Amino acid sequence: MAQQVKAVIARAKGAPVEVTTIVVPDPGPGEAVVRIQACGVCHTDLHYREGGINDEFPFLLGHEAAGIVETVGEGVTEVAPGDFVVLNWRAVCGQCRACRRGRPQYCFNTHNAKQKMTLLDGTELSPALGIGAFAEKTLVAAGQCTKVDPAASPAVAGLLGCGVMAGIGAAINTGDVGRGDSVAVIGCGGVGGAAVLGSRLAGAAKIIAVDIDDRKLATAAKLGATHTVNSTTTDPVEAIRELTGGHGADVVVEAVGRPETYRQAFYARDLAGTVVLVGVPTPEMKLELPLLDVFGRGGALKSSWYGDCLPSRDFPMLIDLYLQGRLDLGAFVSETIELDAVEQAFERMHHGDVLRSVVVL
Ligand code: APR
Ligand code: ZN
Ligand code: ZN
Repeated sequence: MAQQVKAVIARAKGAPVEVTTIVVPDPGPGEAVVRIQACGVCHTDLHYREGGINDEFPFLLGHEAAGIVETVGEGVTEVAPGDFVVLNWRAVCGQCRACRRGRPQYCFNTHNAKQKMTLLDGTELSPALGIGAFAEKTLVAAGQCTKVDPAASPAVAGLLGCGVMAGIGAAINTGDVGRGDSVAVIGCGGVGGAAVLGSRLAGAAKIIAVDIDDRKLATAAKLGATHTVNSTTTDPVEAIRELTGGHGADVVVEAVGRPETYRQAFYARDLAGTVVLVGVPTPEMKLELPLLDVFGRGGALKSSWYGDCLPSRDFPMLIDLYLQGRLDLGAFVSETIELDAVEQAFERMHHGDVLRSVVVL
């Protein structure tokens, strides 16, 4: 039986989000219906609302979520009703060339639920990042669900579904930060802050946090940054070089997504260092670099897609570390809110002191 539940949608470009009733069908083959317990508010949701991703309105927003599997469709073996799960953007196939080469983050055949959730009048909804979890229940592909230890609070677990995983993964998966490394993180919001946390987890000796906002730098210090640089008053490239014996950092994580910070990341790395680009630029942004500088510096320039994570490997591991008190994921939950307060949470995003607002249902 299809169910009617409360959910937050973006009906038209730029219009405030609204709480409405949606229809969630029974799960078909390979699908699962998940009762959402918590879902973080991410910039990408706002981006959908503003028409910055595509124009397939109306969107069912929310994509950093954890909850309990309620029902599963035919042939589902990954999860069962009652499982506590964290949702991810896309189920990978496990069969294609990318999957077989151990790079499932580049899977050619990712999938989401085949059936559509709708409004009461039958209008089909586009779920944000294939999830749509600002809702009491949502329909996903079973492969989008990863079982984790139910001792973790849903508000914390859900954050692994997007920004926090992107940041931790940028450091530990893409940047391959190692014991004793020096790391610089440019931009210490939710993603950059998580990169600081990931670098500490990996055993980095120096973690240099760069931001334009002192409050973000204070948070970064709590998360494990050993040095902080406010780039409105200090040249971050020079500061990073000075702090690393004149060489530059072994790994630089760019978590802003702007040309000037990409440039800083490029020049702040050690000659053999790695630059990890996790901040997402807009289509118009361009960066001009002397080719000789590209040639003359070794190391690697890498982009990090979703922290290059493999949910089935990374989500349970990070939750276990959190439960053991070895990874302060709780620091990212700045406030918990109700489903009808998403619009206000969007406004607070730009005031600088919120890492994540999390809707708890
Ligand atoms: N130099 C340094 N820091 C900057 C600059 C700058 N020029 N401009 C902005 N910042 C800082 C902000 O002060 C803030 O702390 O970057 C941080 C951005 O954080 P959030 O707004 O919380 O964004 P976040 O969710 O962390 O995402 C960062 O990563 O995944 C991508 O799409 C995401 O591009 C976005 C980026
Ligand atoms: Zn694949
Ligand atoms: Zn997100």
